[in-house]
Amino acid sequence: MDIKDQIINGPGYAIVPIDDLKCFEKLRKVITQKLQSNKSKIDIEKLRIKMMTMSKSEINNVMVGLLSFNQASEIMLKSCRNIVKKLSGEEVFLQRRANIIFNLPGKEQRRQWPHYELMSGVSPFTYIIWAPFHDLDDDGGVFYIDQTKSFKTIKKEHKQGLVNGPLILKNNYNEKPAKLKYGEVIIFNPFILHGNINFTSSMARIACSIRFQSIKKPLMQKNTDYYKYYKVNQ
Ligand SMILES: [Fe+2]
Repeated sequence: MDIKDQIINGPGYAIVPIDDLKCFEKLRKVITQKLQSNKSKIDIEKLRIKMMTMSKSEINNVMVGLLSFNQASEIMLKSCRNIVKKLSGEEVFLQRRANIIFNLPGKEQRRQWPHYELMSGVSPFTYIIWAPFHDLDDDGGVFYIDQTKSFKTIKKEHKQGLVNGPLILKNNYNEKPAKLKYGEVIIFNPFILHGNINFTSSMARIACSIRFQSIKKPLMQKNTDYYKYYKVNQ
């Protein structure tokens, strides 16, 4: 099945290789440096281990340090420009600020509850690219629920007059987190249910995500505070 067809009509998501790994490597380098509270310049694997010993306020500080960096979404899109063009054409609305997400292992750690992107107000024409900055050897990744199953759950909940209620939050999802390799991304549509599970590992997980849509499609609730116009081949 063609990738576009897979993302729109098939399972609703696809794992694809990054088009320009050199470009993505640059992003990883910058983020790795900015996530360090001092000038030690350790690599991503060492940083993942170091993060395990950092206090919540130290982690908060390095996240604040990232705020001044607003180039991540463009670099990420450039790294995956062929698939973006295939899905949304040459001119897109691109999320101004990429999300840099990290998760720590352990039961007591914060995790992303099951949800689908549409509930945050993006339009049904939005696509999401999610990429880890390293191999995912453990269960620190994200699980994705096939489109048919996702729709079934969303419609069931809709009948109850709820959005993101107990049915979606507390459902027993048996899907395993996708084990991506560094250099791969997962692209999915905004109806796909996804989330994290608590995982055991000796390292933190660091990933990046962006949202985009064609400029020819309506924005719905999100406006240009959230998106910027971007020409894919510029
Ligand atoms: Fe999400």
